[in-house]
Formats: sequence, C-alpha cells, structure tokens
Amino acid sequence: MSGRQRGALLGALALMVLAGAQGWLLRGALDGVAFAAVGALVGALGGALLAHLQEQRAHEDLEAATRALEAFAAGARGERLYLAQEDPRGVASRFNGALARLGEGLAALDLDRARFQAIIENLRSGVVLLDRRRRVQVVNPAAERIFGVWAPEVVETYHLAITHAYALESALDRVERGEVLEIERRENGRVLQIELAPVRGGGGVLLVATDVTEERRLLEVRSQFVANVSHELRTPLTVIGGFAETLLAGNVDEHHVQRFLRHIGDEVKRLTLLVDDLLRLAALESGRERPEHAQVPLLELARAVSERYGETARERGIALEVGGEALSVRSDRDRIEGILISLIDNAVKYTQDGGHIEVQIGRQDGRALLRVEDDGPGIPEEDLPRIFERFYRVDRSRQRATGGSGLGLSIARHLALSIGADLSVESAIGKGSAFTLAIPDMAGPAPA
Ligand SMILES: Nc1ncnc2c1ncn2[C@@H]1O[C@H](COP(=O)(O)OP(=O)(O)O)[C@@H](O)[C@H]1O
Ligand SMILES: [Mg+2]
Repeated sequence: MSGRQRGALLGALALMVLAGAQGWLLRGALDGVAFAAVGALVGALGGALLAHLQEQRAHEDLEAATRALEAFAAGARGERLYLAQEDPRGVASRFNGALARLGEGLAALDLDRARFQAIIENLRSGVVLLDRRRRVQVVNPAAERIFGVWAPEVVETYHLAITHAYALESALDRVERGEVLEIERRENGRVLQIELAPVRGGGGVLLVATDVTEERRLLEVRSQFVANVSHELRTPLTVIGGFAETLLAGNVDEHHVQRFLRHIGDEVKRLTLLVDDLLRLAALESGRERPEHAQVPLLELARAVSERYGETARERGIALEVGGEALSVRSDRDRIEGILISLIDNAVKYTQDGGHIEVQIGRQDGRALLRVEDDGPGIPEEDLPRIFERFYRVDRSRQRATGGSGLGLSIARHLALSIGADLSVESAIGKGSAFTLAIPDMAGPAPA
C-alpha cells in the first residue's frame, strides 16, 4: 500500500469515526443538514491535512488528528491538534480553527434543540411527529395526556397506536402529497381537533391535537340559550301582535277592547321582567361587579322582603311567617336580598291558596342559614337537579298562568356563588319545598 493510499484510508476512517460518534448528537429533523455540513467540513479538512501529511509521510500527525477528531466526536470541545512536523501551510491552525467553529456550531445546535424541546414540552396542544413510514418519532406530554399513551411505549410504532383512527390514513395520504388538513374526531364524549401538516425536507407529518370538548360544550350551551331567549321573547310578542291586529281590524266592542289592552299590558310586563332578568344574568356572568362586604341583618332583611309579598299572601290566604335568630353576616346585602326575593316569590307563586310559608334564620357550622320552606306542590325528584338551570321550569303549562321567566333560580344560584354561599333545595312531591341558603359568616376582616 502506498503512503498516499494509506493516508486516504486513514482519512476516511477518521471521517467514519467522527460520523458514527456524532450520530447521537445529530438525530432529529436537523440531522441531515448538520451531518452533511460536518461531513463536508471534515472532508475538506481531511483533504488539506492529507496533502500535508502525505508530503511529510507523517504517520504520527495523522494519528494525532484522528485522536483530536475522536475526542471532539466524544464531546471534548477544547481539543487541539499539534503537529510533530514542520507546518509551513498552517494546517494545524486551520484544523483547530475549523474544529472550534464546528464546536460553536454544534453548541448553537444544542441550544436550539433545548429551546425546541422546552417549547414542545410545554405546549398545551398535543404534538406528534410521524416519519415517512408514519411511525411516531416525537410525542409531547400534552399528546400523552390527550391520547392516553406513554411516549416510550409508542415511539417508533405505527401511528395507530396513538390515534386509533383508521380514518386518518386517507388524510395522511393527502398530507403527504403536500396538503394541510384539519379534522375533527369525536370519541368517548370528547371532541379532538387535529391539524395535519407535511414536514418539509425530511418528509413525514406533524400532527397537532387539541381537546376542544369544553369549547364545544360552551358553544352548545350558548346557542341553546339564544334559542331559549328567542322563544321566550317570541311568545309574548305573538300574543301582543295578535291582539293588536284584532283591535286594528275594528268591530270590537268596548268591553273586549279593554280586555285585549289588559292582555297586551300584561305581556309587555312579562317582556320587561324577562329582559331585566336577562340583563341581571349577563351582569352576573361577566363577574365585573364585585360583591360588597357590609353588615347584613338577615332577620330584618327577610322581614322587609316578606312584607312586599304580604298583600298577595293575604289575598290568597297564605300564611307567610318569618322567624329565627337575629343574625348578621358580613356580605353583600343586595345579593342576599335578590336571592330572598327569588325564593319567596316562588314560594308564594307556587304554593296553593291557604298554604304555609316559613322563612327561618339560623346557623350551622359557622355559616348563617336562610331557609324558605313551603307546603306547596313540591318538585319531582327528577327535576330537582335541573331547576337551577336557565329557563328550566317544571310545569310549562302551569307556568303560563304564573308567568315566571324560568330565570329566577339560576340568577339566585349565581348570586349565591358570587358571595361564596351555597343554595340548595329539598322537596317532596305533594309535601312542599325547602330552599336553604348557607352564607359564610365573614365576621373577620373583609377580603380585599
Ligand atoms: N317553591 C317552589 N315550589 C314548587 N316548585 C318550585 C318552587 N320554586 C321553584 N319551583 C320550580 O322551579 C322552576 C324554576 O324556578 P325559577 O327559576 O324561579 O323560574 P320561574 O319562577 O320563573 O318559573 C319553576 O318553574 C317551578 O317549576
Ligand atoms: Mg321564580
């Protein structure tokens, strides 16, 4: 073997050692580029070095260069080459300069990788990277949560191990041809939004999954609400429109004119109440208004609210009584009053003539209790969990006569939540209902 051949062989060997040892550093999307750069650089250096070494036949120096490269490949960044021979062309300093630049390049790459890793790991969306053969390469923690998998178990497996979606195959075909797609999957009551994009250069597909179940549910609730509101507004409007048309057509005797106008007036009142309730609910839900913290004398307040219903109760022979401890709590007077109005209003509205209603103030476990109990019709057990929902009414036909919006209790519960209180109900059909408001007794300093 000539010195030239031997030199070339050793140069190639050095290259291979470097390439092999760099393998661990340079995995991932950036690999190809970095690897090619290292290869080219080392190739060029190797060429220059070889020319020098061949001339000098300095086997030793080639060894030294190989050792320097090996050490570099193993992670030593301070490694430098010193030649035993004369070095008129400055090969050693060029070699060392290139090595230093390579070291800097790799350090920058490491930093990029660490940043990339930090971003991927902290994303709230699930990120899955598939290679050309649709095998999983990267799974971030959010994807582990969303798909219920453990990364070490699914990396290098076919994507179905994660996605379980055969339907995804055709989408992947399209994405691999360059399309960007967004698909939606519904499974086990969850809604997943999955975006698919081709990975440029290396091939493969990037899959970004977001759990949008909660957003979808809120959207659903909102559109349901809008539908309910529209329905509630339409009913009185239809009545008003009907009477107005009849009156306009003429030929109505004075007695009926009066009756129709009264109906129109009633419906307008209903509409106004409904709109007021809606505005109240919107204000509460926005959470903009902060609750007050003042001394609220509960017994006094309960008496004042009951008095407002005194006349209606008397007319219908209902006994409306207020009793209990003269307790005060630090809280929001207006909100407690709003809840009381809603509860007493319902009790008076739904209790049959001659019934009994009792408002009691007491305490339990450091909280003040405000209880409104009636011996009215009661609420069926299956309706109990729903009566605090917006527009929920147990008996829609009866409602027409009593004329509530179905918003009273949902507003009351919002009010209760906003002051840290609990509003609960017990009821038995035919026996009556009892609503209890448990207010935290904030005797201490008011929260900021
Ligand atoms: N004290 C009560 N007795 C019987 N049913 C009641 C009582 N309070 C509430 N309900 C039922 O709960 C429903 C919801 O009440 P609420 O939200 O105040 O709406 P509204 O009073 O406008 O109908 C009522 O429609 C009624 O069916
Ligand atoms: Mg009501």
